[in-house]
Amino acid sequence: MLKLGVNIDHAATLREARYRGLGHGEPDPVEAALICEAAGAHGITAHLREDRRHIQDRDLWKLREVVRTRLNMEMANAPEIVEIALKVKPDIVCLVPERRQEVTTEGGLDVAGNEAALTDTRKRLNDRGIEVSLFIAPDPAQVEAAARTGSQFIELHTGAFAEHFGEAAGRVREVARLMAAARQAHQAGLQVNAGHGLNYQNLAGLLQLPHLVELNIGHSILCRSLVTGLDAAVREMLALMRDY
Ligand code: PXP
Repeated sequence: MLKLGVNIDHAATLREARYRGLGHGEPDPVEAALICEAAGAHGITAHLREDRRHIQDRDLWKLREVVRTRLNMEMANAPEIVEIALKVKPDIVCLVPERRQEVTTEGGLDVAGNEAALTDTRKRLNDRGIEVSLFIAPDPAQVEAAARTGSQFIELHTGAFAEHFGEAAGRVREVARLMAAARQAHQAGLQVNAGHGLNYQNLAGLLQLPHLVELNIGHSILCRSLVTGLDAAVREMLALMRDY
């Protein structure tokens, strides 16, 4: 069965927009994680960024405490964050590139160019019982390098697929790249996840990929919950006002 990991970063983004620096506030990404698990999600993904723009350290510790499925910690291969991961002990770490100005994680890791450093971090995490995934573009050289690092997983970056989904030629090209990368990774002994930009419209196009273990989806699920939950939220507020 194809698994779903829900990325709950955007709950924290919304909280930080109002409560940054206060150590509390809504929505609580931990509460969001529990709802996702209760709904059947197979894992919870949270990205502790160096700039702490959404998930905070306290969120990560709390998630470790309450998540009963699998906690996937996304992070840059940065010394401070690696130390935190070794202490928190998520089930799996997904190493991602992190450029300070980006709105979200825009490109895949350059594994080929950072093989020694990534291999070193992979070993340290594995030694603590944490599995390792590398977030990469569907590029043969990156898949090859990812296998050489000894990582257990790759997460194929589906951003280009999502971006070109609306045009037939682009969609066919990106699906072909993803399929080739998934096959290559599988042959190299890597397990294959995928994510970024997947939504309720483009998902069907991705399901033709072979060897998929898990999809990591965040933004579209959080957006969808806003739409599907708004009706109930307004009714609840009106009920509180009724006796005036
Ligand atoms: N996978 C990785 C490695 C990510 O960094 C992200 C968030 O940018 C996602 C999956 C989820 O992407 P989205 O929020 O677009 O669903």
